[in-house]
Amino acid sequence: MAMAEIYYFSGTGNSLAVAKSVAEQLGGDLVPIASVIDREEIQTEADVIGITFPVYYADLPNIVRRFAEKLDCAEIAYVFGIATYGGAAGASLKSLDGILRSRGKTLSAGFGIHMPQNAFLKPWENKNWIYRQARKRTDFVIRSVETQREGMFYSNLPLQAVLTPFHRWLRRMTVLHLEEVSNTPSRSGLTVEDLIPLNDRSFRVGDACAGCGICARVCPVGNIKIVEGRPAWQNRCENCLACVNWCPTNAIHGGIAKNDHRYRHPDVTLPDIAGQSGSSKGARP
Ligand SMILES: Cc1cc2nc3c(=O)[nH]c(=O)nc-3n(C[C@H](O)[C@H](O)[C@H](O)COP(=O)(O)O)c2cc1C
Ligand code: SF4
Ligand code: SF4
Repeated sequence: MAMAEIYYFSGTGNSLAVAKSVAEQLGGDLVPIASVIDREEIQTEADVIGITFPVYYADLPNIVRRFAEKLDCAEIAYVFGIATYGGAAGASLKSLDGILRSRGKTLSAGFGIHMPQNAFLKPWENKNWIYRQARKRTDFVIRSVETQREGMFYSNLPLQAVLTPFHRWLRRMTVLHLEEVSNTPSRSGLTVEDLIPLNDRSFRVGDACAGCGICARVCPVGNIKIVEGRPAWQNRCENCLACVNWCPTNAIHGGIAKNDHRYRHPDVTLPDIAGQSGSSKGARP
């Protein structure tokens, strides 16, 4: 197998669990996107690059967009994306392809993997069944990458087909929602990408806060400072919900976590998530 690097971004572990299996099976390096994102350009000597991420608002997370914009990818033989989602991939894989094309490389393959929804409660969701299906999908991804198969491979195809014509409308509705939760005047002219960093204005910390600092440790982008024993958000949020879901006392409320739904992938640990913003192996400094 050619030299592979599997990059990932993850708030509650779904994308990390997938990226870890893929890296292990391919004998590749697992590299957190957060650990390389501050570089001016992201260069690599790998022949195969995987980019694993959660779908946010039917598209790419901001940090994944910035990562792709910096990736020096024109000479990489095979670049694939893996989108994990609670419903459907939306435009995320197409957007990734578009950014890479502007950098001289077509996305060789895109894979969708349905995972439990981390942003709100879906009472009908059978998580064990979803994990079993996701393991099968992950095996399919690994076999496909080994044979350098090309194309877009979505799961949840009917939902994907129904949602695709409504993408622009969904994004407009998302702007209205994010304006409201971030206390931004409506019709601000801001885009979803502009509003995502401000969404942490809706987070509140309750009396259950024990001042442990875990929320700051798990934030992949250093958006939380502990001030007088409590978290203070810095308006550079990625909306990953790691702080909400890894808080040991469930003290953080607000935003899209307002129904107090909590979720974490069972195979992913606190050190795994907290290690995301640490130093990287793989990509050249
Ligand atoms: C801010 C936010 C927006 C989301 N938007 C979508 C979406 O548009 N479509 C979808 O299917 N899932 C959506 N989800 C669910 C996640 O994509 C899904 O649960 C993902 O597997 C979480 O990955 P992670 O555990 O690696 O963070 C959203 C989650 C968050 C936190
Ligand atoms: S993780 Fe929870 S308990 Fe710990 S400092 Fe943050 S909000 Fe407080
Ligand atoms: S502040 Fe919370 S939701 Fe925002 S990026 Fe950090 S961990 Fe994620």
